[in-house]
Amino acid sequence: MHANSSPIVTSQVHPHEDLARRVARGLDTPWRKPVADHTQEAFDYAEHWRKARGLPVIIDAGCGVGLSTRRLAERFPDHSVIGIDRSADRLSRDLSREYGDFPDNALLVRADLVDFWRLALDAGWQPVRHYLLYPNPYPKAAQLKRRWQGHPVFPAIVALGGQLELRSNWSVYAEEFALALTQAAKVRPTLENFSPEGGYLTPFERKYAESGQRLWRLTCELPHRPALLPR
Ligand SMILES: C[S@@+](CC[C@H](N)C(=O)[O-])C[C@H]1O[C@@H](n2cnc3c(N)ncnc32)[C@H](O)[C@@H]1O
Repeated sequence: MHANSSPIVTSQVHPHEDLARRVARGLDTPWRKPVADHTQEAFDYAEHWRKARGLPVIIDAGCGVGLSTRRLAERFPDHSVIGIDRSADRLSRDLSREYGDFPDNALLVRADLVDFWRLALDAGWQPVRHYLLYPNPYPKAAQLKRRWQGHPVFPAIVALGGQLELRSNWSVYAEEFALALTQAAKVRPTLENFSPEGGYLTPFERKYAESGQRLWRLTCELPHRPALLPR
């Protein structure tokens, strides 16, 4: 396969000037969007599965086809790894020919993260690790509010806590995420350029790396802090 993914094209070359205001608003203003029925059902199923297993949880948020969910489940066999994505098409791809049976300690869930994260927090989930691997960049300046760091759900992501890892091929996304974490949680994340030498964790990672793009990784240890959410 010839990899020719185009780099991010945007006029926004620095963190958005409205980011701090958006983050502050998320921390100050309760957000009451009703939870979609399909995500409530998907969450109930995941919650049942989680409780039945009784193992520490790892969240793979926006897992796409679930390759990272599989790989994390193999890397952390004594954890329950839950991959969440809203795309039925991506989740339904059968990778078993290339990668074998789906691991017992992993689950793929079709749900909207905007609702799933809040349900998980309300149910007392305390993920030990939380991955956001190559989230949609929404690179136009006008799309800040669609990026997770500019979205009203951002406080719920932070409040869940755990070892958070975000990867992106757009440095500005990772820089903005780091600034938003510092503002919301008073932490200083590690942000570094990296090359996935030990193997690709996701198909997007592979596509970007094989196209010669630079990759960014942010990591941060966050306390579980449900009180961060304005009520
Ligand atoms: C750029 S892809 C990356 C997929 C995968 N992590 C990878 O690296 O190959 C972003 C993924 O996030 C998912 N996504 C975006 N917004 C979402 C939301 N609100 N709820 C659930 N999934 C979402 C998309 O369906 C898509 O699969």
